Amino acid sequence: MSVAYSHAHGLGEEQSVWFKLTPLLNQDNPMEILQRLSEKYGGVIPVNLKNQRVVLLSEVDHFKRVLVQNADNYTKYFDGLRPIFGKSMITVDGALWQRIRKPQQQAFHPNMFEEYFPYLMSAINSKMERWAALAESGETVEMVEQTWTLAAEMVCKALFDRQVPFNPHFIFGQVKAYTDVMNHKSIRLKKVTGELEEITQEDAAKAMEVWNGVPEQVLAADVIDGREKTLLRMLEEAEADPDFPEFDRQQVIDEMKQYLWAGTETTALTLAWCLYLLSLHPDAAEKIRQEAEQVCGSRDPNWDEVTQFSYTRMVIQETMRLYPPIWALIRIAAGEDEIDGHKIHVGDKVVMCTYLAHHSPKYWNEPELFRPERFSPERMKKRVKYSYLPFAAGKRSCIGGALSQIENTLALVQLLRRFRPEYVGEIPAKIQSTVTLCAQGGLPFRIHKLS
Ligand code: HEM
Repeated sequence: MSVAYSHAHGLGEEQSVWFKLTPLLNQDNPMEILQRLSEKYGGVIPVNLKNQRVVLLSEVDHFKRVLVQNADNYTKYFDGLRPIFGKSMITVDGALWQRIRKPQQQAFHPNMFEEYFPYLMSAINSKMERWAALAESGETVEMVEQTWTLAAEMVCKALFDRQVPFNPHFIFGQVKAYTDVMNHKSIRLKKVTGELEEITQEDAAKAMEVWNGVPEQVLAADVIDGREKTLLRMLEEAEADPDFPEFDRQQVIDEMKQYLWAGTETTALTLAWCLYLLSLHPDAAEKIRQEAEQVCGSRDPNWDEVTQFSYTRMVIQETMRLYPPIWALIRIAAGEDEIDGHKIHVGDKVVMCTYLAHHSPKYWNEPELFRPERFSPERMKKRVKYSYLPFAAGKRSCIGGALSQIENTLALVQLLRRFRPEYVGEIPAKIQSTVTLCAQGGLPFRIHKLS
């Protein structure tokens, strides 16, 4: 049988940094190993991996150097993720990146969020209907899949003005098959209907074919309200601009793919880890319910009230400290540099382990404890700059960070007032650090309805 493997090439390739880090990251607690390495060898650790030099960084000054002070010397590293993101802006650099980002930036200006609010609420309502059925059946569900399908519906409705035309559970499974398997060739076994099955390159290639078809499906889906100012319209206006020939049809498609993954998996992981922590800390879940009661009683929140869920937001921020969905930022050195007395050579892959700063006792008291109050406005003022980077920093920081926090605040408030999601997996959940910070074997939950 002939198989087009081109989509499958990537994360698992021998040249990929992810592949090369496999021996470190496939351990029971991959982050503990990095923590020990940085305690023993300091904040800059050059590692020679065959024909490639990788430099692990873990200090705030190093992050500042690479992301802000000397940012132009470092380009994005995206080798293994091209099949998912195509040529979208997240993968490009320099003047082209600037030109591509400009027309999209306005979709993420805070004055747009009020317009998105009813569509975010509508997606949460669908999820609540689904959870009511899950509470009845008592079945065990994988929380990241639950939260991903919610995040995907939010993106389709709020940013594209489209109903979700695909089965989100199916698409989630397809892209996961690619990232889980291709991240490291050694992670090939996946539990399918209780049996361990080998996922092949062919499966990963097929998964990417499905993924490539998703934007066209979204474009052909039912338009919800025909809004004038949606992200999708902005992308199509850029395509129609004669002065911007690089922004062709493929660019529109690839930008959509970028939002359907960068804008969903991270938000979904944050919400799933939040629910995990809240299941282990029911007092904090209760505080969220009390806050909701104070802000809007038993009715749904209004847009004007969103900023009043301050404790809920602190829970989200603390979750992203403990479990940053993007646990490391990778760049390639375009020119020579020096960091903390260490030479950085052209072509070095620089891996900024933001997870390590998030968990360092230098910047956080008792860093392993879940304490949302760390993010109270008074304490935030004292925070060391660059010690908390869930959305990165500098010009390449996340475009959707503020939006994701609104999405997750509303989701937590609404879901927790009606349900008690119970984490039923191993405690503590073991982390798996591939491109994103997931849980080994997932985060299994049972949903209970509150009376
Ligand atoms: C909790 C949720 C999120 C987290 C933790 C997160 C994290 C990040 C990080 C760390 C980066 C920078 C990566 C790097 O420098 O290598 C990034 C970039 C990006 N994120 Fe997010 N993100 C989240 C939500 C979103 C949402 C909701 C959207 C859009 C709907 C989004 C769209 C993007 C895009 C387009 C970029 C590339 C920006 C550029 O290169 O100019 N993200 N995100």
